[in-house]
Amino acid sequence: MRSLLILIAGALIGALVTFSMANALHQRNAWQRGVMNLLQHHLGELRRLQRTGSCSATLTAPHLLRMAQTSADISPSRPNEKPDYHAQAQRFLSLNHRLATEAPSACPDLDAALQEIGNACQDCHRDYR
Ligand code: HEC
Repeated sequence: MRSLLILIAGALIGALVTFSMANALHQRNAWQRGVMNLLQHHLGELRRLQRTGSCSATLTAPHLLRMAQTSADISPSRPNEKPDYHAQAQRFLSLNHRLATEAPSACPDLDAALQEIGNACQDCHRDYR
């Protein structure tokens, strides 16, 4: 009976340790996942605008600006990556800044911008995700 209790206690402690370790790992990545999910949201909004033919600069610029601002956190949220990661993040930031300051005002321009952004997301994910 005593050994059974010790066994159960051991299993419970093991489960608790595993749970808190998983939680700590999850928390550690919270910022970088937050950054990525913000980018995903604004990219989704831009794609929605493009699908519905609402391509004026007044509508696209706010999302591009948010993407540019959010891109500035890609590098700091993953400080221990290789220099190439930071170079890709920097290029992505410049791309978003350029698109935010010269926001597309017609659907073919928004098409081209979305293509460029999508390729940049994919390039980095292929190497680092
Ligand atoms: C410079 C590199 C880089 C760029 C550019 C980049 N990502 Fe990421 N992304 C990552 C890395 C690294 C991860 C994995 C993060 C993790 O799981 O800890 C990731 C993960 C994600 C995730 C999953 C987040 C989660 O909750 O697990 C989403 C969504 C995402 N990226 C969207 C995007 C979108 C959309 C773009 C372009 C608009 C983009 N990313 C551009 C590096 C990048």
